[in-house]
Amino acid sequence: MYDIIGSREKAVAVIPDPGLLPRVLKYHKNVKSVILKKGGRKGTERLYETEVIYGDPDTEVVHVEYGMKFRVDPSRVYFSPREAKERQDLAASVKDGEKILVMFSGIGCIGIAMASRKSCEVVGVEINPEAVRYAEENAKLNKLRGTVRNILGDVRDVCPKLGRFDRVVMPFPEDSLSYADLALGCVKPGGTVHVYLFSGSEKEAVERVRESFGPAAEVISWKKVLPHSPKTWKYRVDVRIRGENP
Ligand SMILES: C[S@@+](CC[C@H](N)C(=O)[O-])C[C@H]1O[C@@H](n2cnc3c(N)ncnc32)[C@H](O)[C@@H]1O
Repeated sequence: MYDIIGSREKAVAVIPDPGLLPRVLKYHKNVKSVILKKGGRKGTERLYETEVIYGDPDTEVVHVEYGMKFRVDPSRVYFSPREAKERQDLAASVKDGEKILVMFSGIGCIGIAMASRKSCEVVGVEINPEAVRYAEENAKLNKLRGTVRNILGDVRDVCPKLGRFDRVVMPFPEDSLSYADLALGCVKPGGTVHVYLFSGSEKEAVERVRESFGPAAEVISWKKVLPHSPKTWKYRVDVRIRGENP
């Protein structure tokens, strides 16, 4: 499976196997560069080791998704076009006036999806400076009803200084659960946390979230988001923090 990222005018293909090159070039005439990804995502910034094996070495594009635009170079920052529908689902649950924290915010696509639909106030926190630069530019590229602010830094340093939010999003499926304590300190009583994680089953995903968040939180819903490996899926588990919203 490969990803096409960009627009009708200019796109890049990200492929896991050089054997896919002829097929990509045959079916996607808008592809100007082909990036070969080697192995899995690595490190804090969740990047692939990559090599441009065809076309323009400049792999920056403007990706178009549900009418929004995201400038991105997939060889330098995390971006997955496969998560477009999930971003829409998440944005659909937001209400006008909400204050939302997106931890691990990348190039800002979740916050922009939310703020394009609703007049909410989004704060994104991301450790990769390149991703924050794109997030800033992307906030300006799109017509927003709400506001988006992007902060460069480690969530552990930045988030405790931001006050409390109605909704916290944790889109770091490899390690979200290690930050459960942090999220609990960032959400208002009655507020919601959306936790992404990889798991072999729905039951296991829900149990792990319950254990990590403890009695202060109640699991209210969950969904299978996307396949991850032959035996694991990416899940989203939603928890509500007990207590009344003051
Ligand atoms: C799976 S990506 C998700 C990016 C974005 N939310 C999206 O959906 O496209 C996880 C992101 O978390 C960032 N990250 C990892 N550890 C972090 C930390 N301690 N503080 C802030 N950002 C972090 C990485 O650089 C990466 O961009």
